[in-house]
Amino acid sequence: MIELLRRFGGKFRRYMVIGPACKLIEVIFDLLTPLVIAQMIDQGIGAHDVDAVIRYGVVLAAMAVIGISFTLVCQKMAALTSQGMGTDIRGALYQHINKLSYAELDRFGTPSLITRITNDVNQVQLAVALGVRMLIRWPFLAVGSMCAALAIDLKLGVIFLICTPAIGLVFWVVMARCIPYYKQLQAKLDRIALICREGLSGARVVRAFVREDHERERFAQAADDQAHVAIAVGKLSSILNPVTFLVMNLGVCAILWVGGIQVNVGELTQGQVMAFVNYMTQTLTSIVYVANLVVVFTKASASASRINEVLNCEPSITDEGNQPVALPEPGAMVAAAPVSALSFDHASFSFGAGAANAVDDVTLELPLGKTLGIIGGTGSGKSTLVSLIPRLYDAGAGGVSVMGANVRTWPLDQLRHVVATVPQRASLVSGTIRSNLTWRDETATDEELWAALDMAQASEFVRNKPQGLDAPVEAGGKNFSGGQRQRLTIARALVGDPQILIMDDSASALDFKTDAALRHAIRERSTRGAAEGGLPLTTVIVSQRVSTVRDADIICVLDHGSVAGLGTHDELYATCQLYREICQSQLRREELEGQQGSAALASAPTAPASACAKEGC
Ligand SMILES: Nc1ncnc2c1ncn2[C@@H]1O[C@H](COP(=O)(O)OP(=O)(O)OP(=O)(O)O)[C@@H](O)[C@H]1O
Ligand SMILES: [Mg+2]
Repeated sequence: MIELLRRFGGKFRRYMVIGPACKLIEVIFDLLTPLVIAQMIDQGIGAHDVDAVIRYGVVLAAMAVIGISFTLVCQKMAALTSQGMGTDIRGALYQHINKLSYAELDRFGTPSLITRITNDVNQVQLAVALGVRMLIRWPFLAVGSMCAALAIDLKLGVIFLICTPAIGLVFWVVMARCIPYYKQLQAKLDRIALICREGLSGARVVRAFVREDHERERFAQAADDQAHVAIAVGKLSSILNPVTFLVMNLGVCAILWVGGIQVNVGELTQGQVMAFVNYMTQTLTSIVYVANLVVVFTKASASASRINEVLNCEPSITDEGNQPVALPEPGAMVAAAPVSALSFDHASFSFGAGAANAVDDVTLELPLGKTLGIIGGTGSGKSTLVSLIPRLYDAGAGGVSVMGANVRTWPLDQLRHVVATVPQRASLVSGTIRSNLTWRDETATDEELWAALDMAQASEFVRNKPQGLDAPVEAGGKNFSGGQRQRLTIARALVGDPQILIMDDSASALDFKTDAALRHAIRERSTRGAAEGGLPLTTVIVSQRVSTVRDADIICVLDHGSVAGLGTHDELYATCQLYREICQSQLRREELEGQQGSAALASAPTAPASACAKEGC
């Protein structure tokens, strides 16, 4: 909590001084009130002096008005500080989360990050507001009332000195047991958020598989879990009020008893006894409020440490000090040696210590303007391999280079501008088609957007919308079909002239004809780019379909993260058993028969030795 105050409180320091100062003035009036009432009783009511009663009544009213005015100022300061700090913390968290790499995001988990940015910030906000309003009030009132009471009469003070520690002890015992539960409550809340998110975002799938009951049960269990902890805390803290009021009222009885005797012998006045009762009630009530403050601050400190955990998490992928990388001259293309657009040098990656490598010792090189096809079974590491290129993850061992420079030496903005990725899960955000397409280049003209849509085979359905590029997109692109979403994400990647295009299974929802038209358009764009004096487009196509990758210049067959085969379609068909099996399971008989002849040619002694990396292929 202190760390958050240090980080975000500076701007609000003025409010944090003015607020409690105003509260202090209100507390002073609160402390004076019993004394004025005592005078009113002794000089007014006791002496049957109506004028004195009215006089002290006016004084009390004036004190109340002044007290309320200062309270209002304090409330405003508390609101400005807590809301301002809450907004700043939320903004900083959101900004920081956007800087984290996939590895850190995986570690925290999206639901937990959402709870931290919403519920945890709210807890801190509440504590700050209470802090400004009450942190001074209750302790000051407790101590002030105690001193004032002792100043009235030391004998009665003994009762005071017995009751106060008794209540303090009860609080200490109860709170010590409650605090661990508050920490657990936040974790339980994370779990509820996780289940809500999964259940609501996957509502269609849940219904399609008739899993509603299962999901309901899962949610009920998580909610029960949270409720159990909350009830346990509730039970513990429910002891507090009865015990406190019991001690308090016993104390009041004792004061009235002993005080009454003293009034009879003339040692004290009635007004003084009433003032004593008021001070005692004020002190003990203050202790109850202080304890409530402790609860709020305990919860807030658990929340603050969860917020700090995110804010202190250094992004593992940074580009500090990296200088812009010079792209190859278009003239380099005509040079004898091909320029490497992309290369993996014994690259490996695993999702955590002890986990098997998701990418295992991959070495390959793709010249500028060529197409790399990556094929392999589900979970073979295709997406992970391509995510190493724009540094969504960093290779744990080995290296990945783009345009001849290790990706770790690139400024991230430049790298991710040169490399455009179409992710496996097509995701759009609420807005318009235009706002979704201009992510990579906000200044893109309509002409450029239509060209990208044309290439992505998406222009037809966009043209059919009355608002065209300004047609609305709902959250997650829900108002588009799966195939339309995919085409829009492909178009988005093509805006802003990327030099390397990665399509991660991005054509899976396209029919074969559209898929072929898309690849043809990309190839055409690549050659046109080169002919117009620019760099040709280098493409990486990830797919489980042979038909999508068979025309690629190099095909990489992945198996459990490692390269099972590398070469052209014909070479691999002849030499890689895994690739042949994939082809046999997908291609029609005529296509395979046509294949036998070319395979024979490819397997002739001139075939490159690199064609198959796996034993038995
Ligand atoms: N965020 C993650 N955390 C932990 N393990 C992961 C994560 N993402 C992927 N994996 C694991 O890494 C391996 C490779 O996953 P990857 O997504 O790269 O496969 P893929 O070849 O793209 O599969 P698909 O064809 O289904 O898209 C899998 O075994 C998977 O379980
Ligand atoms: Mg994948």
